[in-house]
Amino acid sequence: MQDNTKITEMETEGGELDAARAVRADFAARSLVGDKAPGYYIQTLGCQQNEADSERLAGLAELMGYRRVCDPNDARLILVNTCAIREHAEARALSFIGEYKHVREEHPDTVIGVGGCMVTQRHRADKLKMSYPYVNFTFDTGALHKLPFLVKQAIEKGSRRFVISDEYDIVEGLPVSRTSKHSAWLPIMYGCNNFCSYCIVPYVRGRERSRREEDILNEAELLIADGAREITLLGQNVNSYGNGAEDSSNIAELMRKICALDGDFRLRFMTSHPKDASDELLRAVAEEEKIVKHFHLPVQSGSDDVLRRMNRKYTSGHYLGIVEKLRALCPDISLTTDIIVGFPGETEEDFEATLELLRRVRYDMIFSFIYSPRKGTPAAEMEGAVPAEVSKERFARLTTLQDEISRERNERFIGRKVRLLAGEVSKNDSNMLTGRGDMARPVHFAGDASLVGSFVNVKITSCGAYNLEGELI
Ligand code: SAH
Ligand code: SF4
Ligand code: F3S
Repeated sequence: MQDNTKITEMETEGGELDAARAVRADFAARSLVGDKAPGYYIQTLGCQQNEADSERLAGLAELMGYRRVCDPNDARLILVNTCAIREHAEARALSFIGEYKHVREEHPDTVIGVGGCMVTQRHRADKLKMSYPYVNFTFDTGALHKLPFLVKQAIEKGSRRFVISDEYDIVEGLPVSRTSKHSAWLPIMYGCNNFCSYCIVPYVRGRERSRREEDILNEAELLIADGAREITLLGQNVNSYGNGAEDSSNIAELMRKICALDGDFRLRFMTSHPKDASDELLRAVAEEEKIVKHFHLPVQSGSDDVLRRMNRKYTSGHYLGIVEKLRALCPDISLTTDIIVGFPGETEEDFEATLELLRRVRYDMIFSFIYSPRKGTPAAEMEGAVPAEVSKERFARLTTLQDEISRERNERFIGRKVRLLAGEVSKNDSNMLTGRGDMARPVHFAGDASLVGSFVNVKITSCGAYNLEGELI
């Protein structure tokens, strides 16, 4: 818990910045600066937390004198930030790592490092050490700040290092190189104490620990001054933010304080665990104008028996109670959730209970996953594995039902004028932009690229299950 979490400033802890400066000085001595500076490339898998971590890795790489490149073949520092949430995520990470072998063959001075949740598991770090000889080092999720040391050693000595430190402190003051100017991640806490029986996260991200409110508010102010129009607070369970901290602020208070900062911006947050969703939080979301009217509340299953075996610590009845309160406070709120299909022992009746929950809640969108056993978690030892064909068939039924509900939910916006943050130019059509607002899905509309990063008013004209279309007003 918070009590024994060490919070340190990067500068004071072991001289990581000195290592970064040494690498930079070495590049400068060899005139590898400006356009000639060696490139870095980061491949990120997994959740928003990993994206936020990668922005810090990028900040450190730039501090060392590397410059961002878009093609791994041009990079002399390649980092893969991995995820372990499902088998598929690990397979993807290994496949990316495999692709970089030829970069090392063509450019022997390329440093390759692998970080993140996958390699914070001993068996995975060992596997990389044995079977991927061109990987220089792994670093666990608590060791981002050690990157300059690891790179310096790899450059100077060509040594290989596959350590898992088990140190999960909070290091403040890491440089950040953000990928989007207008949309910013703001981690408020790290780790998880919930030990849902299927989930690897508590084993690879350590115990729950919250950043100091002061540090978060300072960072939020800097982000806003730097042009952020949308800030997303991140944590595995943001609802328990501040648990055990001395100044004992909570997520609701924290969000209200951020909303009170000057500037035209919107605030998002994820993820909320239903067992800790307080009335105070629901009220803050309903009342604060700057908080986006979208609540992501993962339910996982509609069956109380499955929820108990998942160790989720709530029943479907309790969950529906939260949804009811939220809708009473904020009738138009967009609701989304996560569902796991095929958890060990899930019967047809259990699955029907999930479908029934979907019909009752009427989510705007769901993220659904087929259960994937994770080594070391209690569920991986449970009996009653659901055959793959059964899981797939249930998954398809879930999707069919939800698509119908999503389309109907999206239809409520047709004819409405909405305020959106123009996020990006469409990949398929340079005259089209996508924007995000209170709806769960992005809105597509015709507009000039110069609008990206600003708020626009759009009238919604049509929709499908997966998107909405509109016209600039
Ligand atoms: N901390 C967040 C998100 C965790 S990961 C939360 O509690 O909601 C995101 C989602 O991945 C989870 O909500 C869950 O639906 C899914 N997930 C986690 N472990 C899984 C596993 N072993 N197999 C399939 N899906 C899983
Ligand atoms: Fe995993 Fe549960 Fe923690 Fe979310 S709350 S990260 S699902 S253990
Ligand atoms: Fe994956 Fe780690 Fe996030 S396991 S989902 S990257 S916390």
